[in-house]
Amino acid sequence: MSQKTNVPLLDLKAQYATLRDEIEPVIRKVVEDQWFIMGPEVKGLEDEIAAYTGAKYAIGCASGSDAILVAAMALDIGPGDEVICPSYTFFATGGSLARLSVKPIYADIDPVTYNMDPNHVRELAKKCTNLKAIMPVHLYGQAVDMDAYVALGEEFGVPVIEDAAQAIGTKDTTGTMVGTRGTIGCFSFFPSKNLGGFGDGGIMTTNDDALAAKLGILRLHGGKPKYYHSVIGLNSRLDALQAAVLRVKLRHLEAWHDGRAENAKYYDDAFLAAGAKTSATPLGGDGLQLRTPAAASSPARHVYNQYIIRVPADVRDDLRAHLTEQGIGTEIYYPVPLHMQECFAYLGQNAPGSLPESESAAAETIALPIYPELNAEQKAHVVNTVVAFVNERSPVTA
Ligand SMILES: Cc1ncc(COP(=O)(O)O)c(C=O)c1O
Repeated sequence: MSQKTNVPLLDLKAQYATLRDEIEPVIRKVVEDQWFIMGPEVKGLEDEIAAYTGAKYAIGCASGSDAILVAAMALDIGPGDEVICPSYTFFATGGSLARLSVKPIYADIDPVTYNMDPNHVRELAKKCTNLKAIMPVHLYGQAVDMDAYVALGEEFGVPVIEDAAQAIGTKDTTGTMVGTRGTIGCFSFFPSKNLGGFGDGGIMTTNDDALAAKLGILRLHGGKPKYYHSVIGLNSRLDALQAAVLRVKLRHLEAWHDGRAENAKYYDDAFLAAGAKTSATPLGGDGLQLRTPAAASSPARHVYNQYIIRVPADVRDDLRAHLTEQGIGTEIYYPVPLHMQECFAYLGQNAPGSLPESESAAAETIALPIYPELNAEQKAHVVNTVVAFVNERSPVTA
């Protein structure tokens, strides 16, 4: 019976089915008003995101990638400047910097949380000759060690740009929402994010009055007043239609975070009961050759944009193929760390083994469906199918 259960990696139709009655009227209103650029919906969302995160300002933009780009521009980071960021992340983290001819300096990750390792950042920062910022990524919806990053920013006298694209609503160990303790926070509203639009969108947060003004001008071609340009910006506006949809979705975000956390707890408990290892235990030795992700304990909060398990490298791709056959959607986030990407070969950071934790995570991790609408049968199907396959390939020895 359960073999027939279909479990996509994400089911946005299931989410939309619960929201149709709320969303259709707000879309109709934007269309009736014909106010598509900036305007009250964009301002309304900016105010609501500022209130939600606790940041003083939130400034909408066209995508999470642009949020990083515009943040770097606002901090006057440009050609030849160095910014330390993780290698094990989505392409835009390094790509948005490289578009400005900034030199990304890729740091390794902590193997337990998959977040950039502050100790490695410190080592790299000492060797930099032109360091202009440090940019940690709150990967998968789990906060980096913000105490450490705030301290590193102070130690090296550089701003901290938080790539919070996957982490709206994430809280660090002090219970503070991400995107508020760094200099600028960069968020994405890509549809697969916990707060996802009906297309692309992004937002930048800051507590700095002057930076907020500059971010707001840069995303409008750098013109202030209109048609008078003291700086060169770009067209990176958040669409009013997206803002209207996102304002509706924001009202449900906390419930969705709770749903994801409940699903993660179900998976954690079920995998551990089947003999899996916790995040702090390396694979190998006795037990099921599967590692659960690191959980966050209150007041910290992991919002589980992704639920990532770890299995031996020689099992991972076969597990993925098997899950696909069994109707279970998965993804590899990310198969090639940025320091190993062809387009970054010019940086000369691509010697195999140079960032060992990033490279082994890229070979051993796999994302399972975690969206809040998953039902009990779907979750059981995921656990049973994963456990049976991993057991068959790497039998439990004790
Ligand atoms: C870590 C990270 N940074 C940046 C981005 C870029 O966001 P967007 O897709 O909205 O451009 C994403 C999302 O896709 C991301 O996951």
